[in-house]
Amino acid sequence: MSHFGLLLSVVSVVLSVSFSVVASDLSHEPIEPLPQVTPGDKRVVALGKRLFHERKLSRTNEVSCATCHPISQGGADHLVTSIGINGKTGVINTPTVFNSHLNFRQFWDGRAKSLSQQMDGPLLNPIEMGNTWDNILATLHRDKTLVVEFNAAFRDGLTKGNIRASLVEYQRSLTTPDSPFDRWLRGDQSAISAEVKEGYRLFKVYGCSSCHQGRLAGANLYQKMGIVEDYFKDRGNITVADYGLFNVTGKEDDRFVFKVPSLRNVALTSPYLHDGSQQSLAQVVTIMGYYQLGRNIPESDASKIVAFLHSLTGLQPDL
Ligand code: HEC
Ligand code: HEC
Repeated sequence: MSHFGLLLSVVSVVLSVSFSVVASDLSHEPIEPLPQVTPGDKRVVALGKRLFHERKLSRTNEVSCATCHPISQGGADHLVTSIGINGKTGVINTPTVFNSHLNFRQFWDGRAKSLSQQMDGPLLNPIEMGNTWDNILATLHRDKTLVVEFNAAFRDGLTKGNIRASLVEYQRSLTTPDSPFDRWLRGDQSAISAEVKEGYRLFKVYGCSSCHQGRLAGANLYQKMGIVEDYFKDRGNITVADYGLFNVTGKEDDRFVFKVPSLRNVALTSPYLHDGSQQSLAQVVTIMGYYQLGRNIPESDASKIVAFLHSLTGLQPDL
């Protein structure tokens, strides 16, 4: 290459670098917009929706997925812990199903790698739906219209694999794009107020975004609850569910470690934390400051961070 050619290519590299800095200012933010999800086959999504609301998936015909994950309420019931079949109460707070297909792992302790794997949890858990796959298949096969619909959507009709596939496809449709914050990330300056912008700045300055980051503002790494101060000692009444990732790996270092929860739509999904102990988002912000960052966040800052968290509420799925 001639010197001139070399000079030109250096100039163009410098130019493209500086251009990309200007043009993608917001792409360096710790939180990224939710991706567009290509819609799945309409018939499969419709079947998944039907199954998600089907109480026959539980052994006693009492509860459906939607009982604990109501679509009209942010994808999570508002109970401290949910109520499964025969009135049995759960051991951990119910997270939302919205955007869950984007989680790096499923469940608070991350014990399921995918949505397909995850659903055996509630379906077979004796205190949730208490069923067996044999019984689920036998029950659903007695529903002739359902059999016809499965035959239309899948070459091999109503099978365990296709039940899984439908539920996964429906849950993929429960993505909540275009929150005010995402619109701002995409360049719409007026999408969020000055208070929200200040709340987001504080969220970064305090260090919340070291754990809550990426497109879900969480759900892409594990962290201990109580890194700086001992949350569990202060709260008391420690249960097995509090052990988190330790229950999966048996490693002492993993005790009290959880998947950092997504903050998408968090304004809709009280109560908070894995133990469902907190009703107020402002209170959770203060708790996070103290136990995760060793900071006492004044109320005036906490309320701005809460305003920012509200801006993460996206378009809710069709009912
Ligand atoms: C009785 C209440 C109940 C029912 C019924 C129920 N769930 Fe859940 N769901 C929960 C609870 C509680 C958790 C968290 C459990 C944990 O982390 O250990 C959860 C977790 C999940 C998660 C993981 C979310 C995340 O962020 O980790 C998904 C996805 C999910 N449920 C989907 C479903 C589907 C699909 C069904 C129906 C087949 C269903 N649930 C039925 C209570 C329920
Ligand atoms: C060291 C990592 C870390 C930092 C820093 C951190 N968080 Fe968290 N956050 C977590 C973990 C882990 C949980 C789940 C804890 C639990 O359920 O017991 C959580 C839970 C939450 C929840 C509750 C979500 C729900 O659905 O229940 C909110 C809200 C939250 N954090 C906001 C913040 C804010 C605001 C900050 C900064 C002031 C912050 N976090 C700093 C790791 C962190």
